[in-house]
Amino acid sequence: MQQTVSVKNIGLRGVTVADTKISFIDGEKGVLIYRGYRIEDLADRSSFIEVAYLLLNGYLPPKGEVEAFERKVVEARDVPTYVFDALRTLPKTSDPMDVLQAAVPILAAADPELRDETRDANVRKAIRLIARLPVVTAAWHRIRNGLDPLPSDSGLSHAANFLWQLTGEKPDDETAHDLDVCLILHADHTFNASTFACREVCSTRAHIYAAVAAGIGALSGSLHGGANTRVMGMLLQLENEPDVEGWVKNRIDAGERIMGFGHAVYKTIDPRATYLKKMARRLGASRGLEKWERLSKLVEKTASEEFERRGKSEIKPNVDFFSAPVYHMMGIPRDLFTPIFAISRVAGWCSHIIEEKFAEAQEKPMLYRPQAEYVGNYCGLLGCVYEPPEARAGT
Ligand SMILES: CC(C)(COP(=O)(O)OP(=O)(O)OC[C@H]1O[C@@H](n2cnc3c(N)ncnc32)[C@H](O)[C@@H]1OP(=O)(O)O)[C@@H](O)C(=O)NCCC(=O)NCCS
Repeated sequence: MQQTVSVKNIGLRGVTVADTKISFIDGEKGVLIYRGYRIEDLADRSSFIEVAYLLLNGYLPPKGEVEAFERKVVEARDVPTYVFDALRTLPKTSDPMDVLQAAVPILAAADPELRDETRDANVRKAIRLIARLPVVTAAWHRIRNGLDPLPSDSGLSHAANFLWQLTGEKPDDETAHDLDVCLILHADHTFNASTFACREVCSTRAHIYAAVAAGIGALSGSLHGGANTRVMGMLLQLENEPDVEGWVKNRIDAGERIMGFGHAVYKTIDPRATYLKKMARRLGASRGLEKWERLSKLVEKTASEEFERRGKSEIKPNVDFFSAPVYHMMGIPRDLFTPIFAISRVAGWCSHIIEEKFAEAQEKPMLYRPQAEYVGNYCGLLGCVYEPPEARAGT
């Protein structure tokens, strides 16, 4: 029996696997760009629908086109009732991310263009996915609470309609606008784990729904999109904690992670976190909920100082650290934070899937197929013993 030495598992850090024109991160300077535009500018001046158009098409919608695009999204909100019937068969305790992932192949079955692999058909499928993930998320929340899904309201924006279908109440303009901005900030992020999962799956020539389902699965993990629900869990746990600083320090001392901190690419504060921090401050003040903003800031200050003291000053708050108190102050249930991330990121996923499928011939990526170093045993069975290459080389 022979063993070889393991290669270091560094999770493909620093490995460039494809070309993309969709987004760019400067991790040293804390810059995020979608199709050439800084996210701060998009958050200040655009809507999520415009950003979805930008990501999918590569340019901001010319005058008049945004309304046509929005109309297509609104029309696509009409989800066949058998999708809801399928959701009704699930245990009410099912995690909303699992339900959302399970709903995607059902939505595939409902798509008349599923097998049409032209670029235009894939863009139409992307529009259906962007329109329908919020509808499914809201419907599941109502179904698990014994309520019926609500019809969409064609007069409401993407974010406002989601809140309406979730709660049965029309949101105020501030909440609808803030959620829309959150959707813009989460819409794409280069080759993050879930986007890579989508691209990897569609590199096999699987359809867009198969790829998006994989993306949802990857996003659900606590080191990725699932971190935002854990951040809120931490803040709720600390709500009545007299020694927040001590709690944070002990946690880091114990080698445990502070959720919402650290990033594989940013070596400074995540620009989305900077934006959401300001939003949290404003929401706290306007709703008399300053305690969440105060608590987040105390955890941020303590954790940052502790990381600095340990020579890890690059571990700073990421997007999930401030999105959690923002969603909480909007009254959104904690286990829907990650589905909301998916509702936004689906625009980026679909754009990457289309880029992967329809790249120019000379840039067309191949099927992703990395290698692994085998470090297991070689055992004989029925007298047949495989000789590893090194052993053969020695003879
Ligand atoms: C996102 C994340 C996986 C990126 O990690 P990374 O840069 O690839 O680095 P690693 O996971 O290899 O961690 C490097 C070191 O920093 C530490 N570290 C990284 N993030 C940390 C955190 N949030 N809390 C405490 N320690 C952390 C690790 O424990 C590790 O320490 P070690 O070298 O002593 O073993 C990581 O920062 C993390 O787990 N964050 C919390 C989850 C989260 O917020 N995810 C959302 C990302 S948008």
